Amino acid sequence: MKVSVIGAGNVGATCADVVAHKELANEVVLVDIKENFAEGKALDMWQTSPINMYDTRIKGSTNDYSKTANSDVVVITSGLPRKPGMSRDDLISTNAGIVKSVTENVIKHSPKAIIIVVSNPLDVMTYCAYLTARIDSKRVFGMAGILDTARYKAFLAEALNCSPKDIQAVLMGGHGDTMVPLPRYTTVGGIPVTELIAKDKLDAIIERTKKGGGEIVNLLGTSAWYAPGASAAQMVEAIVRDQKRIFPVCAWLQGEYGLKNVYLGVPVKLGKNGIEEIIELKLNDDEKKLLTASSKAVKEVMDVLDNMNKAVAK
Ligand code: NAI
Ligand code: 2OP
Repeated sequence: MKVSVIGAGNVGATCADVVAHKELANEVVLVDIKENFAEGKALDMWQTSPINMYDTRIKGSTNDYSKTANSDVVVITSGLPRKPGMSRDDLISTNAGIVKSVTENVIKHSPKAIIIVVSNPLDVMTYCAYLTARIDSKRVFGMAGILDTARYKAFLAEALNCSPKDIQAVLMGGHGDTMVPLPRYTTVGGIPVTELIAKDKLDAIIERTKKGGGEIVNLLGTSAWYAPGASAAQMVEAIVRDQKRIFPVCAWLQGEYGLKNVYLGVPVKLGKNGIEEIIELKLNDDEKKLLTASSKAVKEVMDVLDNMNKAVAK
């Protein structure tokens, strides 16, 4: 197996490190546009292999995509991260240009790859990669739901003073303030969470989860990387090990949940073919309303990208 990670910054390097550490591939290639940056990070990581006891070879490259040739999975993290005061949507024009050119290079050298997008604004950058790659949408999807769900689980574990391992949960919708947490589908050791925590406390955790990315931006002055990198690596693992795991993933909807032509977070089955199934939960009216509102918010930003593309085509 060969995995390439484009963007050797905070998220990309963390993802590559987890992929190597877990021996999810024989070879990991890190690519960055910054001269020698990926090479340096790859060399440093490779030197942890005798300490952490893994065989995965890690290589770095400055924008030379021939090194990524025939990758099975490519993770795109290239782009600017959020700074304080910046919304994810502020990033659209810069990051769309980056994601488009990166995807062109990726697909040229690895036409059979499965592409996982991480760059923000996530749902729209995934759409951008899909438009550019012109491959089956089952092979182009985005990482956000695993991260958002992990934040929700971590906050719950803290509030309940229990192990995060015992919390099962799913969040849907766009990666942003309109994300749709589903307390009805949250259990702790098999027990519905609503039996273990007061409603006001759960509501506060849901609100904190929605703003979880911003909380870290305000603390660090840039966005998170440990949990995002590990989340992307978990998706790589599900694919390369054909685990058929069920995760919330930003997927192209074609009528599922009554929504069409939009990239949105929904539960899917992930395996060697990428998205092997989109799972349709029986949402109640309130949940459906929230999901539709989230889809509308994402579509508005997708329209911005479509309009930018039309202006360039003229
Ligand atoms: P970073 O600034 O640490 O790394 C980004 C890297 O991309 C830099 O090293 C930069 O040189 C590189 N880059 C820029 N243009 C490039 C190009 N054309 N080709 C190759 N490399 C290029 O940023 P960080 O923190 O790693 O974040 C990366 C992206 O991921 C940001 O857009 C951020 O908003 C997003 N993100 C998304 C999350 C999600 O849940 N989907 C969570 C966290 C971050
Ligand atoms: C995050 O959620 C900013 O999308 C980034 O951490």
